[in-house]
Order: sequence, then C-alpha cells, then structure tokens
Amino acid sequence: MDTTVTILVPTYNERDNVIPLVRRIDGALAGRSYQVVFVDDDSKDGTAQVAAALSPEYPVRVIVRRDKRGLASAIVDGIKETTGQVIGVMDADLQHPPETLPLLLDEIENGADIAIASRYIKGSGLQGWALARRVISRGASFLARMLLPFIRPVKDPLSGFFVFKRRVVAHANLRPTGYKILLEILTEGESAKLTEVPYTFEARSKGQSKLSIFQEIDYLKHVYSLMKRRGELFRMVKFSLVGISGVGVNIGILYSLTEFAGLFYLASAAIAIEVSIISNFSLNNYFTFADRRAPGITGFFRQLGKFNLVSLVGLAINAAVLVLFTETFGVYYIFSQLFGIAMATAWNYLGDIWWTWK
Ligand code: GDD
Ligand code: MN
Repeated sequence: MDTTVTILVPTYNERDNVIPLVRRIDGALAGRSYQVVFVDDDSKDGTAQVAAALSPEYPVRVIVRRDKRGLASAIVDGIKETTGQVIGVMDADLQHPPETLPLLLDEIENGADIAIASRYIKGSGLQGWALARRVISRGASFLARMLLPFIRPVKDPLSGFFVFKRRVVAHANLRPTGYKILLEILTEGESAKLTEVPYTFEARSKGQSKLSIFQEIDYLKHVYSLMKRRGELFRMVKFSLVGISGVGVNIGILYSLTEFAGLFYLASAAIAIEVSIISNFSLNNYFTFADRRAPGITGFFRQLGKFNLVSLVGLAINAAVLVLFTETFGVYYIFSQLFGIAMATAWNYLGDIWWTWK
C-alpha cells in the first residue's frame, strides 16, 4: 500500500506559479509523506521544465502529455499513472490555497471518502470575482444540482480542489469532458462519505485563466452525458410520457362527465384536472420517480400534496403565458398555448425533482 499523499496538479502555461506552489505545499504538508505530480499538456512557456527542475529539492514528478488537452482528462491520466492511496487535486495558479490541504487530509483520516474544498459553505470566500463570473458559477452549480439529483448534497460540486481515497475510483470508468473532474468522480465513483471544508478562492497571482466559452459548452455537454449515464435523461422522457397520458385522462373525464353525467363543462373540467393530477402523480410515483418514492402512507400523501401544488402553479403558468403571449404580444393563440405547455412542463419537472421527490 502506497501511503504517499499524491497531489495532482493540472498545468497549462503556469511557469510562474509552480515554484511558489510547491514551496507552499511543502510548507503545508510538513511531516507528511507526499508527492506533487504535475500533469502538463505540453505548455509552451516551459512549465514542465521549471517544475522538473524542482525535483532534486522536493518530491515532484512531471507527466507531459503531447496531444491530449483538458483539465479533467489530465487528472484521469494522473490517477492512472500513480499509486498513492490518497489523492488530492488542485490548480497550479494558487487560487486554491495549499494551506487548506491539511484540513482536507484530516477529514480523510477521520473517515471521509472525499473531502471537498468548498466556495459555498459557511466560512468560505471568493476573491476578485466579477459579478458576472459569480452568477455564472452559481448558475452552473445550481444546474448540476438540479439535473443530477444524486450530487445535491454537495454544495460546491464544481470545485476543482478536493482530496479523495483511491478506492473511490478503483472501479470507475472516468470519461469526463472539460473542466469538472469532481462531477465525474461523484457520478462514476463509489463514495459513502463526503465532507466539505470552507476555503477562500483567491485571485489568480500570475498567468491567465484558461476558462472560456468553450469550457462552458463542454460543461453543458458533460452534464448531459452524466444525465444520460445515470438515467436522468430517461427520467425526463418518462415524465413527459406521463404528462401526455394525463392529457388523455383529462379529456376523457371532461367528455364523459359532460356528455354522460350531464355536468356543466366547467365543473367537469375542474374534476378532470384533479383526476389527471392524481393519475399523473401515481404513474410518476411508481415509474418516473420509483427510486425517490417516500415510504408509507404519510409519505404518499405528502408527496401527492406537493405534486398537486406544483401542478396547480404549472397550470397558472400555462394560463398566464397563453394570455400574455396572445393578448400582449399578438402571438397566434395555438403557438402561445404550445409555449405555455412547454414552460409549465419545465416548471413541473424542476419543481417535482427538486421538491416533491427530493
Ligand atoms: N493539463 C491541463 N490541460 N491543465 C489545464 C488545462 C488543460 O487543458 N486547462 C487549464 N489547466 C490547468 C491550469 O493551468 C490551472 O492549473 C488549472 O487547470 C485551472 O485552470 P484555470 O484556467 O485557472 O481555471 P479557473 O481558475 O477558471 O477555474 C478553476 O477553479 C474553479 C474553482 O475551483 C477550475 O479548477 C474549475 O474547475 C473550478 O471550478
Ligand atoms: Mn484559476
């Protein structure tokens, strides 16, 4: 068993950061057995050479990849090329303060499988981020936690700074696109115990961020791929099918009560709405959200109540969009209605996955 703590650091053009980084890691991990492994994507500024020159003095290793590019895939290669049983991941640019490493390692020693340095819990901070970047980061985080319910307990699933036990990924088929290696590990890895430790994400000291619109697109592709792998995409399809079945139920009841029972059509419509909500709920409960179904009869009625509320708000959204688009924007009423249905369905899905079957 290799008990060395392996710190994987992806680099691309970080020449001026590697020396202060290694010095600070060495200071923070004094007394522990550790190794810093740089995974460099053939930087043009001599990062690999500067890092390699540190190796007589510090336990530093450099892996250079010639044609592969990408932060997350660099970490996957770093995992494959090393044997340490505890692995840390952090950026080279000193935005992730090495002094947080001992706190993360303490969590691992106390039984955590993954310890995440978090920007979004009590005691955390963010330095030098413009409002736009804060909003994008929060939005991206929210999107992941919404669409991938299994990572919801993690407040900062997009963190690039964390420590984990190798056994978490021992049987995992890691195949990330883009930046977010932690998301991949949370999806494919096996971890029983997660903890988060606050830290302050510092301003970049030297060099430039590589984050661009391409990473944002990669991020969306990655979330889509993770949804597919974990059956979350299929869940959306099931939810839509149930919704369509509800339309059938609604029309059937509306017609029968009006034609055969002689009810006024608006009274039939009110009953039809409630009956279709109940049938949608039952189908979703045993089909779409079978894995998140609350136990017992109280659980059933609590979720039914929530589902009812979400659906009624959905109906109001549908009606409001219909009226607004038709009356105010002069849109053909059938198109307004189609748009209203789309908005209400999105609302219902998010409300139900976030709240009803949380
Ligand atoms: N090997 C390799 N290949 N490394 C890369 C590549 C690449 O294609 N792109 C970036 N890196 C390295 C950088 O050299 C740096 O060490 C680290 O990955 C982070 O890159 P930045 O460009 O500084 O990213 P950021 O500061 O915008 O975002 C980081 O911090 C966020 C908050 O923790 C990333 O780690 C995000 O994933 C993270 O959410
Ligand atoms: Mn950075």
